Amino acid sequence: MSTLLEIDRLSTHFNTEEGRIKAVDQVSLRIKPGETVCIVGESGCGKSVTAMSIMGLLQSGPGVEIGGRIQFGDTELISLDKHHLRAIRGHEIAMIFQEPMSSLNPVLTIGEQLIEPMVLHLKLNKKEARKRAVELIEQVGISRPEQILKSYPHELSGGMLQRIMIAIAISCQPKLLIADEPTTALDVTIQAQILDMLRQIKAESDMSILLITHDLGVVAEMADYVVVMYAGKVVEEGEVTALFESPKHPYTQGLLRSKPVLGQRQDELFSIPGQVPNLLDLRPSCYFQDRCAHCMDICRTQEPALKSVGGGQKAACWLYEEEKRHG
Ligand SMILES: Nc1ncnc2c1ncn2[C@@H]1O[C@H](COP(=O)(O)OP(=O)(O)OP(=O)(O)O)[C@@H](O)[C@H]1O
Ligand SMILES: [Mg+2]
Repeated sequence: MSTLLEIDRLSTHFNTEEGRIKAVDQVSLRIKPGETVCIVGESGCGKSVTAMSIMGLLQSGPGVEIGGRIQFGDTELISLDKHHLRAIRGHEIAMIFQEPMSSLNPVLTIGEQLIEPMVLHLKLNKKEARKRAVELIEQVGISRPEQILKSYPHELSGGMLQRIMIAIAISCQPKLLIADEPTTALDVTIQAQILDMLRQIKAESDMSILLITHDLGVVAEMADYVVVMYAGKVVEEGEVTALFESPKHPYTQGLLRSKPVLGQRQDELFSIPGQVPNLLDLRPSCYFQDRCAHCMDICRTQEPALKSVGGGQKAACWLYEEEKRHG
């Protein structure tokens, strides 16, 4: 099958007063048409920076260095000028965020915000765009669409706003939908409804989804392919069933062992002892070393490469290199 998006050794580094933060370091991933790829990992491991780099929301400059390639169909996104990037963003690639209020404009009606991208990208006239806006609102499961079009964001609930964000995102029939923690701020019932809706939209089109989440339950339900990130790196990747049945990297094993506990917040689900290292102090090594029960000398001095470890999976872990060496 062909590839829709191919990220090749993406590095997004921030130059700060304290030093260089390698938020995303040599990350590669591929998404095929119609596929759902999930990026999973603890807070601060570079998931959102990866998404923002794809969307062109971070531009190289004195504070930010972006390296590598992001190939979307025939177009390379990192070197693309702003004008062409704007034509792709919101049209062929759309994004939904965790907090809909932060990406909706509080002084414009839902109608204005839904109609404008369709006029811009699909070249519809106002009347056609309005008709499609009504259909989209119905498609995302909201009744009385005419009234919703006249409403302002603050008049709607969080769940409704997230549905509106999805309606805006799919309005121009994107080939790729990037969803960064789209349901984390919502209660469990609404969460399930939104995920169902995304699945249904995907089933009806050939859209690919890049879904970013902390929540392994969401991964299990949605993903075809999973990419596990740790401290700016991909540490494991594979087909969802294989990865859940036989996680190879000790970090993935830890994630899968840490089960949700009643009354705990989503951010606290991960119960692997220790913390993600400070991204400022990283020397060549395995960054998971201090939290790993299998840590060896080599893990402290050399960085493991991401390599095939069987089952169609790849992992960046010296355990598998050592296994090979010692037969
Ligand atoms: N503009 C910036 N300047 C400096 N550092 C940044 C900037 N944006 C992000 N970072 C740092 O990059 C790292 C990765 O951040 P990112 O937002 O991608 O994490 P994340 O995996 O999305 O976490 P979360 O699950 O909390 O959303 C963090 O250490 C963060 O502090
Ligand atoms: Mg994030």
